[in-house]
Amino acid sequence: MLIKFSKKYDTKPSEITSENNFLTRRRFIQSSLISGASLLSPLGVFAGQPTNNIFSNIKKMSFGANEKLTSFKGITNYNNFYEFGTGKTDPAQYSHLLKTEPWTVEIMGMAKKTGKFSISDLIKPSELEERIYRLRCVEAWSMVIPWVGVPLSSIIKRFEPNSKAKYIAFETLVDKKQMPGQNSKFIDWPYIEGLRMDEAMNPLSILAIGLYGKPMPNQNGAPIRLVVPWKYGFKSIKSIVKISFVENEPKTTWNQLAPREYGFYSNVNPNRDHPRWSQKEERRITGESGLGALFTPKIKTEYLNGYAEEVAHLYKGMDLKQFF
Ligand code: MTE
Repeated sequence: MLIKFSKKYDTKPSEITSENNFLTRRRFIQSSLISGASLLSPLGVFAGQPTNNIFSNIKKMSFGANEKLTSFKGITNYNNFYEFGTGKTDPAQYSHLLKTEPWTVEIMGMAKKTGKFSISDLIKPSELEERIYRLRCVEAWSMVIPWVGVPLSSIIKRFEPNSKAKYIAFETLVDKKQMPGQNSKFIDWPYIEGLRMDEAMNPLSILAIGLYGKPMPNQNGAPIRLVVPWKYGFKSIKSIVKISFVENEPKTTWNQLAPREYGFYSNVNPNRDHPRWSQKEERRITGESGLGALFTPKIKTEYLNGYAEEVAHLYKGMDLKQFF
């Protein structure tokens, strides 16, 4: 996902967060998720859940299970999260500055119910699922990630969008102190993304609050992010603070920055090259032989990232080279 920046592919051992450190850092988030439950709201759900149970009994649903998972280190040390800088290791290095509790997501627009909600208002622990998905970045690398989340459709339904709501738009937090990358004017913050409503309602679209059975690491978009596995990774917006039901196709960050390169749909499509590189192949990052993608052998990119059976019907009659 890049316009003019040089890329760093290697991570120094000192920059790698061990899982141990990660868990210590995250423990307070787990407990604060629970304490948030005392602020019961109309959709309140976490009340009475013992801390350790939040991520237990997660239903396992697999959509990439026979492929090797990318290691936790790989997933958490090779990130795109420009709010913390444009280098691949910047998010791991600086995202501890992000305070994810308390956190509110504002739901607005064309729906019967709107307002501000905490994560515990939005996510019912009983609905949490593990979804193993391929994530294909537009930069032609990919990972296989065991997300923990809930279907976006089940959250949307609770707000009862009306028939005018044809699209859904998402926004990331803006806070230069917590997100030092926002001092750069290269992106007109906030980072924004959108989906057509039928894409959002597709059972594959999820809002994720964790990975590898643990709360979401900050560098991966804590406390809540979108995951749309058949689209290039940049559609999967992180650290969401606003969700709007809207009538018209929303503007999106990368489409505004480089409309010839990044369209609204951004479906993974090996048959449509990026204007500056091929999309036919990708390097699968396992995170074991160095964290970057440079030395990993190339594999073929599949149409719609291998999820055509589940989502190709959404684009029936559309020329995906034109609506890229
Ligand atoms: N969301 C925000 N807010 N800011 C970003 O820079 N980068 C996107 C996407 N979501 C990005 C974002 C891109 S380009 C990719 S490939 C994925 O996040 C990377 O997700 P990961 O770092 O968890 O693998």
